Amino acid sequence: MKKITVSAPGKLMLFGEHAVVYGRPCIVTAVGQRMRATVELLDKPVFELEAPDVKVTGYKKPMDQLGVDDIPKGAKFVEMAVKNFMENVILGNEVTPESARSVDSGRGRHGDLARMTGISITTQSEFSSQFGFGSSSASTVCVIKAISEITGANLDNRAIFDLAYKTVLDIQGKGSGFDVAAAVYGGTLYYITPGKTIEPLNIESLPLIVGYSGIKADTVTLMNQVSELAQENPQMVEDIYNNIGKLVEQAKVAILSKDWTTLGELMNSNQKLLENLGVSIEKFDNMILGAKAAGAYGAKLSGAGGGDCMIALSPEEKTQAVKDGITSAGGQVIEVEASVQGARIED
Ligand code: PMV
Repeated sequence: MKKITVSAPGKLMLFGEHAVVYGRPCIVTAVGQRMRATVELLDKPVFELEAPDVKVTGYKKPMDQLGVDDIPKGAKFVEMAVKNFMENVILGNEVTPESARSVDSGRGRHGDLARMTGISITTQSEFSSQFGFGSSSASTVCVIKAISEITGANLDNRAIFDLAYKTVLDIQGKGSGFDVAAAVYGGTLYYITPGKTIEPLNIESLPLIVGYSGIKADTVTLMNQVSELAQENPQMVEDIYNNIGKLVEQAKVAILSKDWTTLGELMNSNQKLLENLGVSIEKFDNMILGAKAAGAYGAKLSGAGGGDCMIALSPEEKTQAVKDGITSAGGQVIEVEASVQGARIED
């Protein structure tokens, strides 16, 4: 039977984390480390998954058991992506939440779609799931695009985004979908949840340096921590979100005009606001200090906080010094290409 491989990029949040969950814009860039999924249709009603990067090997279950029983952590996103594709595109059931409505385009299809009896999937990552580059969302996108291609459903990017975002929400319960947008569309995006605005910012690259803290962060835990703070102190948190939203608008202008000095200052301001939200950690504070002391335009944590990565923007001639500054603070520099292509068929 025919096979298809799709890859999708990881992501880094540049500006606007947390506030984006509450309706403010953010800016995200797709990174060169990619996730891959190879999909093959089977003529028996079985779901098979090999995902060695997340310690899933020889995982198998009947197609009618998708989404039920204990799903191993590493299999969740792929399994739920297949289940959602079956239910929403092949069987054409109602899609909730609202954001997944356009998936209805696949309703009632026959032909190859009807022949999706079983499926075998292998995923492979070019990056550690520890970095917080969004491996779960990227693999969800890869799987949905691959099944869409191999069955001839030919969902467009919007429908792939909606179905992948629904899958992430089914599992995580919350999230803005910025990571799904980066995986589908690639590039650098100005994004408003739930995909209300997905606007590519046309730039070839960004002089970004990425430092990994060595600490694994749990996004949902951090989001919950912030929402607890908002319950205790609603006005303060609302003001922070509004200020972050304003910074994002300014950052958009600075990115488009390649005004790295201003962009660096905006990164520093965004970092201060994230500190006020209580999501920075000492390790980040030191790495950021190291990067700035070595001549970076600016630096901030990237993502939910509590761990994963920080980013710095650096003049070309200071690149090595900034990397050394991050390393001296105990960080690990990760070579990353920013603003890369979105999900694509590999063969
Ligand atoms: O931790 P990450 O890299 O997945 O980023 C989370 C960003 C948040 O704004 C906190 C959540 C979200 O879904 O936008």
